[in-house]
Amino acid sequence: MSKSERYSPLPPWQRTDYCGAIRASDEGREVALWGWVQTRRDHGGLIFIDLRDREGIVQLVMNPEHNAAAHSAAGEARSEFYVAVKGKVARRSEGTVNAELPTGEIEILVHEFEVLNASAPPPFQVVDGEATAEEIRLKYRFIDLRRPEMQSNLRRRHQALKAVRDHLDQNGFVDIETPILFKSTPEGARDYLVPSRVNPGKFYALPQSPQLLKQILMIGGFDRYYQIARCFRDEDLRANRQPEFSQIDIEMTGPRPEDIQSIAEGMIASVYQRVLGIDVKPPFPRMSYADAVDRFGIDKPDLRFGLELKNLTSGFAGTAFKVFAEILSRGESVYGINVPGADPLTRRELDELTESVRTRYSMGLAWIKVGDAGWQGPIAKYISDAEKSAAASIADLKQGDTLIMVAGLPDKIRPVLGDVRLRLGAKFELDKSDELKFLWVVDFPLFDYSDEDKRMVAVNHPFTAPNPDDLKLLESTPLKARALAYDMVLNGQELGGGSIRIHSRELQLKVFELLGMSREESVDRFGFLLEALRYGAPPHGGIAFGVDRICMMLCGTESLRDVIAFPKTQKAVDPMSGAPSEVDPRQLRELSIKVTS
Ligand code: AMO
Repeated sequence: MSKSERYSPLPPWQRTDYCGAIRASDEGREVALWGWVQTRRDHGGLIFIDLRDREGIVQLVMNPEHNAAAHSAAGEARSEFYVAVKGKVARRSEGTVNAELPTGEIEILVHEFEVLNASAPPPFQVVDGEATAEEIRLKYRFIDLRRPEMQSNLRRRHQALKAVRDHLDQNGFVDIETPILFKSTPEGARDYLVPSRVNPGKFYALPQSPQLLKQILMIGGFDRYYQIARCFRDEDLRANRQPEFSQIDIEMTGPRPEDIQSIAEGMIASVYQRVLGIDVKPPFPRMSYADAVDRFGIDKPDLRFGLELKNLTSGFAGTAFKVFAEILSRGESVYGINVPGADPLTRRELDELTESVRTRYSMGLAWIKVGDAGWQGPIAKYISDAEKSAAASIADLKQGDTLIMVAGLPDKIRPVLGDVRLRLGAKFELDKSDELKFLWVVDFPLFDYSDEDKRMVAVNHPFTAPNPDDLKLLESTPLKARALAYDMVLNGQELGGGSIRIHSRELQLKVFELLGMSREESVDRFGFLLEALRYGAPPHGGIAFGVDRICMMLCGTESLRDVIAFPKTQKAVDPMSGAPSEVDPRQLRELSIKVTS
């Protein structure tokens, strides 16, 4: 503890200004400041300190001839000490102006200096441009949050949410809170469970989203609802997934998909305008799920670059190349990507790509290069001239281009090429552009077949309405039925997704049945919804956006953790508090819980 540190919980004087907000126009003013010592330099009697607060830094000057006590107190100050000062704003002398700093024209001639709280040597410097291991940053989050980048990210987040609330409020949406202690709401992840002490052996589930509650609010007559809702999902974590995250959750009565899309586009446009001053122009383009998967291999294509997938199947019909012939004889397909000569791949890179597709996906990858003397590469000699010209015309091959090909079942090979496409985009830095490529992916299938579960699963969630044109398919070929569902995608990230919901009890029961749920099971899990659907339920639909993902895009960060004040690591741990942690055995006894491992 520093000898001059104060015990008083109140600061010795009120602040008149933020450090980072003082300007040349303040010259001559007396100011009182609080802040953290960023750097301290002793120069032949004078001490200089860069003092930092949320608005930035300002230079303090302590001159022993001007005030000996302030000078001596400043002499004790070290990195991250929290201090209060009083002084006069003065213009810096000609040669010492720092044009890079908003406060660079002035400095504060300090005559009072008090240390309010000393600091142990910080585990990393707040501003030095050096990368610190994230685990350390999260453990000392109270210091990490002082970094200008974190300050700016969290303030952008605040502005974004303010714009969202204003937009939705202006459009008649009512903010309603829903419970955190609730029943399981399936969104495809595992639930976080909370034991009930007063109901031994029973558990609440933390909501994976407020999906069912917002539907009930429509049945309850609110007509237009929104909430910045906390959601909890126990799933494998990635850079763009957190176990606990926030959604802008929206629901309305009687919408067509385009009504929801237009509210959502207006909201996103208002966010970009308010936070970054960027004009984005709705309506955003629409692409069907089938097209997205066929052309890009995934349902959230990054449209900042081409490298589209091409279906080469017709070009190779009747080929003498054995590998393709065998696969095509089973009715399967050949897809390829034309990598233009402008972004050439070396032989070694092609070998590495082939090897990584083999190890990751147990699939072969073939390639050819259009050289001066025609097609080159290991398989070129097996391909006939007719096939070459057919493939060249489908894939628009020119001199110098490389064609990468994978053969097999379309559902298996397109995602592989989709992944290859993203890796090529990253390699050629095509994904670094600042362009904003918004897109609606529409016409998702209602169901998918899960090889693992040996049954159909909901692509979206089980409350999503089938496209009315496909209702009859539910009886015959349900896997062909399309859903009234839509996702908003930006530069390859899914920002949000939603759908029109089922508001008929009979149809809901039918969908549960197709998902392999018995009537008892349906009633046991979703009885309250089925009951509500019996009492004048209006048609309804909505959407939810990932707040953290939107902020990640707004801040240009690579990880959600940079836009969340207190995020969890990939292992779902909070290094600062140590959560999750063991609990007192007495607490477990009260909850009738026994830990078995
Ligand atoms: P969905 O599950 O698609 O839909 O979620 C909506 C959006 O929430 C974000 N998101 C996440 N963000 C961070 N970490 C996660 N683990 C995570 N999981 C999802 C994504 C996603 O687009 N109830 C439906 C919405 C509806 O139908 O209205 C739902 O939750 O940005």
